[in-house]
Amino acid sequence: MKDLSGKVAIITGCASAEGIGFASARALAAAGAKVVITDLEQGAQALQERREELEAQGATPMACTMDVTDREAVSDAVATVVAQWQRIDIVVNNAGYAGGAGAFESISQAAWQRSWDVNVMGIVNLTQATLAALRASGRGASIINNASLAGTGAIAGMAAYTASKFAVVGLTKCLATELGPDGIRVNAVCPGMVLTDMGRSEIRFFQRAGEDLATTEKRLAEEVPLEERWAEAEEIAAAVVFLASPAASYVHGVALPVAGGLAPGL
Ligand SMILES: NC(=O)c1ccc[n+]([C@@H]2O[C@H](COP(=O)([O-])OP(=O)(O)OC[C@H]3O[C@@H](n4cnc5c(N)ncnc54)[C@H](O)[C@@H]3O)[C@@H](O)[C@H]2O)c1
Repeated sequence: MKDLSGKVAIITGCASAEGIGFASARALAAAGAKVVITDLEQGAQALQERREELEAQGATPMACTMDVTDREAVSDAVATVVAQWQRIDIVVNNAGYAGGAGAFESISQAAWQRSWDVNVMGIVNLTQATLAALRASGRGASIINNASLAGTGAIAGMAAYTASKFAVVGLTKCLATELGPDGIRVNAVCPGMVLTDMGRSEIRFFQRAGEDLATTEKRLAEEVPLEERWAEAEEIAAAVVFLASPAASYVHGVALPVAGGLAPGL
């Protein structure tokens, strides 16, 4: 039920070895998919290292740089993939931006704009660019958007991120209504706390006066009902593979929390 042989998956935000994007690429490849890993130009070197790691695992990977906010670059990358592999079946919109945290009045216009451009328009751009290929792929095509628990509940001090991730969940549900008739399933994963580059950089936003970062990390973990721990990126990737696979053939339009029971918000 989780066999993805013959499928081609494109995943954004894969440069970091510890990130959810690369973990998803690894897991999709392990399920048999050919994977296209992408990230910003500044991550080109890291992306090549990730590609080699996938090859060593026996996978068939392709790596390409593209900024998801650059519609032309996204279209070019998609054209390259289709020219080489003739299809795209799975799109994992994983790239994200979590800058602009802090008190609401301190968040700059630039941070609001970047949150919207990367977290929302990045998904719009890649989804529009891959739609023809996904429609051609037909039943079995799947889009998975990486939202966040911040897309289902309020997180104090993260207004720009939270607003953009609510938009990701809204976009996911709207696309589900529009693309369902074509057999394209659209879902979102909503991770809680994951110790990635982004996860680590967010810890300082929750730091209390006089608290060192290790204590903040531990205090945040203690809020998680399941084993009082942060998630491994692989645990989010497992949900991505499930949503991409025939095992989820009737799962459509959901925002799936993968958060150890954490429930932020009001
Ligand atoms: N780490 C967490 O606790 C957590 C929780 C909930 C949701 N998420 C979401 O998971 C996703 C992956 O984040 P992560 O935690 O693996 O961190 P990460 O920093 O490893 O991954 C984010 C990636 O997005 C890439 N990126 C940023 N802007 C981009 C752009 N314009 N074009 C292309 N790529 C771009 C970055 O280069 C980076 O590789 C994000 O969408 C994030 O919001 C993370």
